[in-house]
Amino acid sequence: MTKRRLPGIFYNPLSVGGAALASVSLLTIVFLTLVEVLQAHSPAYIGIVSYVILPVPLVIGLLLIPLGALRERRRLRRGQPASKLSFTVDLAVPHQRNVLTAFSSITAILLLFTAYGSYRTFEWTESVEFCGTTCHSVMEPEHTAYQNSPHARVKCVDCHVGPGAGWYVRSKLSGAYQVYAVLANVYPRPIPTPIKNLRPAQETCEQCHWPSHFAAEKKYVNTYFKSDSANTRWTVALLMKIGGGNEDRGPAGGIHWHMNIANEVTYVATDDQRQTIPVVRIKSRSTGVTTEFVAGDALEGADTLRARPWASMDCIDCHNRPSHIYRPPARIVDQSLARSRVSTALPHIREKAMEVLKLDYTTREAATDSIAGLLREFYEREYPQLLESQPALLPAAIQELQAQYGRNFFPRMKVRWSVYPNNIGHMTDLGCFRCHDGNHRSADGRVISKDCNSCHTLLYQGTAPVPQTLSVAGLPFEHPEDVGDAWNEAPCVECHSGQ
Ligand code: HEC
Ligand code: HEC
Ligand code: HEC
Ligand code: HEC
Ligand code: HEC
Ligand code: HEC
Repeated sequence: MTKRRLPGIFYNPLSVGGAALASVSLLTIVFLTLVEVLQAHSPAYIGIVSYVILPVPLVIGLLLIPLGALRERRRLRRGQPASKLSFTVDLAVPHQRNVLTAFSSITAILLLFTAYGSYRTFEWTESVEFCGTTCHSVMEPEHTAYQNSPHARVKCVDCHVGPGAGWYVRSKLSGAYQVYAVLANVYPRPIPTPIKNLRPAQETCEQCHWPSHFAAEKKYVNTYFKSDSANTRWTVALLMKIGGGNEDRGPAGGIHWHMNIANEVTYVATDDQRQTIPVVRIKSRSTGVTTEFVAGDALEGADTLRARPWASMDCIDCHNRPSHIYRPPARIVDQSLARSRVSTALPHIREKAMEVLKLDYTTREAATDSIAGLLREFYEREYPQLLESQPALLPAAIQELQAQYGRNFFPRMKVRWSVYPNNIGHMTDLGCFRCHDGNHRSADGRVISKDCNSCHTLLYQGTAPVPQTLSVAGLPFEHPEDVGDAWNEAPCVECHSGQ
């Protein structure tokens, strides 16, 4: 008999089984960690398996060892014979030899499959299907909006798990908590932002978009429709002064250059969503000169505000919805009308469509029924002849609006455009106007500009889809609806946020 290094009570089937389980788990974890270290682009969620799932059998195995030993001690105390662990194999006996060969081959094959299977599991956990559909109802809004966004082919983890060890550990920890939150059904609806541990950052975006290759300018032609009976078309063409760091492509100015390369912008926000920003500082990277801007109504309490934590402006302060874009009703309906998926021949359709999309439904089925019901009721009552002469118009409109509802509204997770502010513009949310409201001043009288032609040049506007007047310098803005000067005195959100 071989020499035993441990007290006899450890040599019982339960302890030995536990030790085997623990060793296999540990070996797999070591194998996975090696894969992770050696592979340059290792799957980001590999760790959910190696650090969240595999430790479970490891710990169970480790617990079984003393448990077996305790049982064994009790057996011995009761005077029962010690457990038998030894057995002999006689290779000279053909039957025993065959059994042993079969047994070792199967074990070896199983081990190989397990290793390969685990590896495939990581690859899968890194995929968009895993992030977007495993917890289907939870991630449904993000996954659906993502598929209809410019980033539909960018993996979730490319934005949400950045490069470097710090990110790695953070994503691991919050990933483990999220698995728990979903299983225990304690996750919030809607998921609150800003998200803390998986917040995309400059480093993640800059893997693909580095400042020197931004386009200098980009033309946006926005088509709107008025809420009148004719659904009058209105076009606004803007040349967005994106800017970048690439002087070969044009002037290195504009939105990005100002924010990220030449200057550092820091600010104090008084709410979690960073919608109220009373104090802003800008520091020139070349001269080191600092300028501070304070909102008019915050001058008195400015010192207490300065003592709060400062945030450094990065991509997400403007691009917080690059991929999960929940469109507001006005934008949805205008786009459907512009693409002729909803016909402008239906009187008042712009106004009515917005109305039915906006209602607060508790399920998608209720919304689908109600969108069809309410619209049909309105047109049957007001325009029965039209339904008879052009019977295809209304069903087509209903179908389009139901589909759009499905892409932009998620009653189960309580997600709709108004839940998450979109910081990129200034129509339905404050966005740029959080600072660019013409009311943030420096001590020497400089103002963060609200000039309508400072961020974009207004090329043309009006009811004609083809430009009548084209301006390179930028036209003065003409508000499509006569509201006097109110459009410029109040921020646009004041009247447009509910759309
Ligand atoms: C282009 C980068 C990008 C991609 C790709 C991306 N996200 Fe996001 N995601 C963001 C940003 C930016 C936020 C907002 C962060 C904040 O405000 O703190 C966000 C927020 C979220 C949130 C918080 C709730 C919300 O709607 O804001 C969830 C959940 C989420 N993403 C899941 C996913 C899933 C699942 C995928 C893949 C199907 C994915 N993301 C792909 C950039 C991305
Ligand atoms: C893995 C690569 C990748 C990453 C990471 C990535 N993007 Fe993109 N992004 C793309 C691609 C590809 C496009 C589509 C290019 C196009 O349409 O010209 C795009 C388009 C965009 C656009 C233009 C959208 C439009 O309407 O045309 C913006 C803005 C943008 N990304 C911002 C971001 C931000 C902010 C982040 C970080 C949260 C980010 N991206 C992360 C690859 C990436
Ligand atoms: C001050 C706000 C702001 C900041 C900060 C900012 N951007 Fe932008 N970015 C914009 C605006 C505004 C546009 C044009 C409008 C749009 O794309 O919706 C834009 C456009 C883009 C585009 C599309 C450009 C093209 O060539 O089509 C990309 C890509 C982009 N930004 C990436 C980034 C990245 C990456 C960062 C961080 C390094 C960043 N942005 C920081 C405001 C900002
Ligand atoms: C956190 C506050 C803050 C936010 C939010 C912000 N900016 Fe700015 N921005 C500034 C400051 C400060 C300046 C510098 C003003 C100065 O130097 O007079 C500036 C300057 C600019 C300039 C240069 C203006 C000029 O006079 O040439 C552009 C363009 C610009 N911002 C675009 C944007 C856009 C577009 C957005 C929204 C997507 C935005 N900013 C959001 C703080 C902000
Ligand atoms: C600080 C920069 C900035 C200033 C100042 C600014 N805008 Fe804009 N504006 C933007 C950006 C950025 C967008 C694009 C948002 C997007 O990508 O959808 C935009 C979009 C728009 C749109 C299209 C809105 C939509 O969502 O359909 C209109 C109209 C507009 N601006 C008018 C104005 C008027 C009028 C003024 C003057 C009161 C003004 N802007 C001042 C940055 C600015
Ligand atoms: C005092 C309220 C008020 C303010 C402030 C305001 N608007 Fe409007 N706006 C209206 C009304 C009312 C309409 C007509 C709504 C309709 O036809 O459904 C309208 C219509 C529009 C339209 C036509 C498309 C649409 O959605 O109806 C555009 C574009 C627009 N406004 C841009 C702006 C911009 C940009 C700003 C900020 C610079 C702004 N508005 C500020 C009240 C306002």
